[in-house]
Amino acid sequence: METLIPIINRLQEVFLTLGAEIIQLPQIVVVGSQSSGKSSVLESLVGRDFLPRGSGIVTRRPLVLQLVNVPPLEERRKQDNGIKAEEWGTFLHCKNQIFTDFSEIQKEIEEETDRSTNNKGISPEHIYLKIYSPNVLSLTLVDLPGITKVPVGDQPEDIETQVQEMILSYISNPNSLILCVSPANSDLATSDALKLAREVDPDGRRTLLVVSKLDLMDAGTDALEVLLGRVIPVRLGIIGVVNRSQHDLNTQKSLDDSCKDEQVFLQRHYPSLASRCGSRYLARTLSRLLMHHIRDCLPELKTRVTVLTAQYQSRLNSYGQPVEDHSATLLQIVTKFATDYCNTIEGTARHIQTSELCGGARICY
Ligand code: GDP
Ligand code: NA
Ligand code: MG
Repeated sequence: METLIPIINRLQEVFLTLGAEIIQLPQIVVVGSQSSGKSSVLESLVGRDFLPRGSGIVTRRPLVLQLVNVPPLEERRKQDNGIKAEEWGTFLHCKNQIFTDFSEIQKEIEEETDRSTNNKGISPEHIYLKIYSPNVLSLTLVDLPGITKVPVGDQPEDIETQVQEMILSYISNPNSLILCVSPANSDLATSDALKLAREVDPDGRRTLLVVSKLDLMDAGTDALEVLLGRVIPVRLGIIGVVNRSQHDLNTQKSLDDSCKDEQVFLQRHYPSLASRCGSRYLARTLSRLLMHHIRDCLPELKTRVTVLTAQYQSRLNSYGQPVEDHSATLLQIVTKFATDYCNTIEGTARHIQTSELCGGARICY
């Protein structure tokens, strides 16, 4: 995602100047059965530990996670305002409280989940968390309770329907990118996540499949056929990953170490596919999809700038010959703005083309 950050920041700056938020980046929604590894996958994308994970039903309320890109602390210090941390989080339900310790964020999610649910119950009421960091793209991720069939604790008899409806309410939004997470050690043909995704995205235009737990397959079996799309084809791609095991979590293995071990595992077991699997490749694929989304928005943006420039021009003209000639300066500003803007657009378009020439696999350089 790193290389996309400056480009998108620049574009978003321009939109702010235009007084409009024209590019709405898709929100990324994770869907899968309980304990398939959804929260783990999201965390590897954000690059920080802050989501409650574990066996059993841990995620029991939707978590809407809005990432906000901010300048690095050093730059913000110069302006001497704001928060003295590189990265921090806030919750909608905790007014004025700033979380700089990510383990506190994790604790707050757990406590807030318990406040509105009891004994493993689930609730459609979302928890809204914002994370500010120089290392993220400004976009929204949604972590959802897993699909489950058998009620436990105080869960109602119709838990399956309840969860499915909750998931559908998020993924039916056409601006959602659906990240289906299916564990490699269960049958893909029965994947409820893919089934739900098909309901709202029959052509597979916005569904990506992540096959988790490659390390947990039975001896003598592998996921090669699945990863090659021979079992179920998925248009946007199928990406295998190895996240941290429960033991890794208990022993506080870092995301960095996990990423390195994942690469070693992939090289050993799937040498022909290693470059198209893994958490980092997943992040790159998402970057590419976001780029395509932006590219699709470009024509409309260009039109808008042209119209705005024409409007300014005619307004300037209507002032006639001013006594004091401010118009020249104003026109300069507008022209410079429009030129910068078009350069940004063209730069983005070129960037997209170059990366496509490289097969899309090298978007992050
Ligand atoms: P969720 O319920 O879908 O959000 O799944 P979690 O991310 O909470 O993961 C459930 C459990 O599976 C946790 O104990 C994780 O450590 C474990 N887990 C997730 N992904 C993997 C993986 O790729 N390999 C292994 N060995 N364990 C995993
Ligand atoms: Na879980
Ligand atoms: Mg979870």
